Amino acid sequence: MTPDHMENGRWYTAEDIPTFKIAEDGTIDYATFSGYRRYSAECHVCHGPDGEGSTYAPALKNSVQTLDYYKFQEIVASGKQDVNTSANLVMPAFGTNKNVWCYIDDIYVYLLARGVGDLPRGRPAKKEAKSDDFTAQENSCMEG
Ligand code: HEC
Repeated sequence: MTPDHMENGRWYTAEDIPTFKIAEDGTIDYATFSGYRRYSAECHVCHGPDGEGSTYAPALKNSVQTLDYYKFQEIVASGKQDVNTSANLVMPAFGTNKNVWCYIDDIYVYLLARGVGDLPRGRPAKKEAKSDDFTAQENSCMEG
């Protein structure tokens, strides 16, 4: 999970998997903050605040420790269901929802930071500024 290089204003490992970066004073990278905001807007309603889970849907801060990045993307894109006589659990598909899909890496790194990075609950207090590279990629995704 060690951050190795930046692309489009986001941190990646040497294997090109998105990751988070938390400075010693607690300042988080902008993508992780962006993930907090998107998670809170789109996932919180079912998965509970701060990736902690709810009675309805699993704690995603734990899920990202066992699901790999590609599996995570696949579930968010296509959805997942467990509907039978004793359960009616429906995870919607978000692959065509730009408010989720343009920020899927951000949501992933936010959850990783919550699960393994000791990021405290709640709105992160200190964040890096949004970079021009991040803005450019965001605009092209949202308009594309
Ligand atoms: C309408 C409610 C709802 C919303 C909104 C929702 N989910 Fe889910 N999600 C679920 C349910 C229910 C499950 C469990 C499905 C199952 O057990 O088959 C689930 C499962 C998942 C899983 C698999 C977890 C695991 O441990 O196997 C991932 C990953 C996931 N959701 C990500 C997200 C993300 C990211 C968002 C926001 C972009 C989101 N979900 C929004 C209801 C929701």
